Formats: sequence, structure tokens, C-alpha cells
Amino acid sequence: MSKPQRDITLRFLAEPQDVNFGGKVHGGAVMKWIDLAAYACAAGWSGRYCVTAYAGGIKFVAPIHVGSLVEVEAKVIYTGSTSMHIAIEVNACDPKSLIRRKTTHCIVIMVAVDQNGQSEQVPEWIPETDEDIKQHATAIRLMDMRKQIGEQMEIFAS
Ligand SMILES: CC(C)(COP(=O)(O)OP(=O)(O)OC[C@H]1O[C@@H](n2cnc3c(N)ncnc32)[C@H](O)[C@@H]1OP(=O)(O)O)[C@@H](O)C(=O)NCCC(=O)NCCS
Repeated sequence: MSKPQRDITLRFLAEPQDVNFGGKVHGGAVMKWIDLAAYACAAGWSGRYCVTAYAGGIKFVAPIHVGSLVEVEAKVIYTGSTSMHIAIEVNACDPKSLIRRKTTHCIVIMVAVDQNGQSEQVPEWIPETDEDIKQHATAIRLMDMRKQIGEQMEIFAS
């Protein structure tokens, strides 16, 4: 098998069917693109079929206009034994000007699974650059914070 691929960027144009009544891209369309990029990234790293276990911290920083060139960047920032934590950044620009601006960012956790939906081991990702080390440490801190949020959310689960 070829070397695991740590990151991927999806590039496409925002089409009229992606747009809401206000003429901007639907938040749901952006979330779908994020999920697609996270899947492609996780599958490229693990060499396996993967499912989305969690998506959070999503921030819509700026709207995306129809006809924009959209770039959805996904990269592994932490691996557990079967999960891959993926940082997503969405940028958009007018294809005529190519001046990119950040529109959305978030974290997605993908899990590699077998045909029965059982979680499967993934290759370990080891951070090397200073930026990677910082993002890896952030992923670990976020895990602790999610535990606390999960406890608070219990009230809605009953
Ligand atoms: C994701 C899923 C396979 C995990 O199953 P599980 O029985 O909880 O498996 P495990 O307890 O072995 O956990 C597997 C990994 O997922 C992580 N995980 C599971 N749920 C998680 C959550 N909500 N948030 C963050 N991580 C989570 C665990 O921490 C573990 O990571 P690690 O192996 O790196 O330590 C299962 O919950 C599932 O199938 N969920 C539905 C997925 C889905 O339908 N997604 C939408 C369409 S793709």
C-alpha cells in the first residue's frame, strides 16, 4: 500500500443549488463539504473505510457566495488507536481575483471501521514541526474539554 496521506484539499465552485434564500451558501452545504473532506483525509491516512464520530467547534467566519472557488483543507492533527482528529479549514475566493478568505473552521473526529462497523486500528501520526506539535497538543486539550461538555449535555440525553 502507498504511504499514508496526512492532508487533502477539495476544490470546487459553489453552485446555485448550494445557496439559501439570502443568496449565500447554506451552512448545511458547508457542513457536507467538511464531512466529505474529513472522510477523504481519514481514508487516505488509515487506508480504511471511516465514519464520522464527532464534529464540533464549527465557526462560520464569513459567508460563501455562489460562484466562489471553495477550498476545504483537511489534515490529521492527532491519532488515537482507532480515531483520527482532523482540523478543517474552509477558504473561498472569487475565481477571477483569487484573493482567498477564511470562511469556516472546525474539528472532525473520524473512526476507521470494518465491514461490521467495529472500530479498527489506524497508523499513528507523529507531529514533527512546531506547528504540528502545537496542534497535536491542542487536540489533546480539546478531548478533555469535550468530556466536560459531554457531562453537561447529559441533561439533554435523558
Ligand atoms: C464511531 C463509532 C464506530 C464508535 O464506536 P464505539 O463503539 O464507540 O467504538 P470505541 O468505543 O471503540 O471508540 C472508537 C474510537 O472512537 C472515539 N469516539 C467514539 N465516539 C466519539 C465521540 N462522540 N467523540 C469523539 N471520539 C469518539 C473513541 O474515543 C475511540 O477513539 P480511540 O480508539 O482513538 O481511542 C460508533 O459510535 C458509530 O458507528 N457511530 C455512528 C457513526 C455514523 O453513523 N456517522 C455518520 C455517518 S458516517
